[in-house]
Amino acid sequence: MKDSGCRIVILGSGRGSNFEALAAAANADWRIVAVGSDQRNAPLLAKAARRSIPGFYREPAAYPNREAHDAALAAALKTYAPDLVLLAGYLRLLGPAMIEPWTERLLNIHPSLLPAWPGLHTHERVLAAGDREHGATVHFVTPELDCGPRIIQGRLTVHPGESVSILAARVLRLEHYIYPTAVGWYAGNRLKLEKDRVILDDRPLINPVVIEETACV
Ligand code: GRF
Repeated sequence: MKDSGCRIVILGSGRGSNFEALAAAANADWRIVAVGSDQRNAPLLAKAARRSIPGFYREPAAYPNREAHDAALAAALKTYAPDLVLLAGYLRLLGPAMIEPWTERLLNIHPSLLPAWPGLHTHERVLAAGDREHGATVHFVTPELDCGPRIIQGRLTVHPGESVSILAARVLRLEHYIYPTAVGWYAGNRLKLEKDRVILDDRPLINPVVIEETACV
């Protein structure tokens, strides 16, 4: 990592609330040097611009296939020389051109207690299944969807009769706590991936660190 701290690029397709939480939490150890998207109109890009953080987009329609789009995105990313790349609502599967250069330096946040409920519409599926617990997970990225070694989870108890929108808001609040926490560990040289194992404070992490909702205030 450079003397000026960990350089971070965030990739997302939409809203950018995790970007906002991360930008607000940045400190001497790390800073967001750019954001990127597959959507030119992603609110994430506008939010970054308001903070004078550069943004870029590479829209899939401009490329002949997934590989070419991935390669273009990877090339754009490289110009910012990130130490760490964060996915926050990036809604496209990444191929090897995007994953391999950033192996061990690529994190994702997912709105469920992985390995439960990979994929989309997690809140609806949790409610339909009658799950008592739900939450969010930060993990290192591997080629499989929403898999990869887990670092930290925010966990809550689902309330009886709770609506999707209330549950989603509660999970998002957890996300805004656990993502900056994981990034702080990484930037502070406390967290790394070694041979598919998460190492935190020099010890292998067998299970992710779990933060209860009640502690995220
Ligand atoms: C979050 O719920 C994240 O877990 C999921 O996509 C959403 C992104 O939200 N992967 P935002 O763009 O950060 O507001």
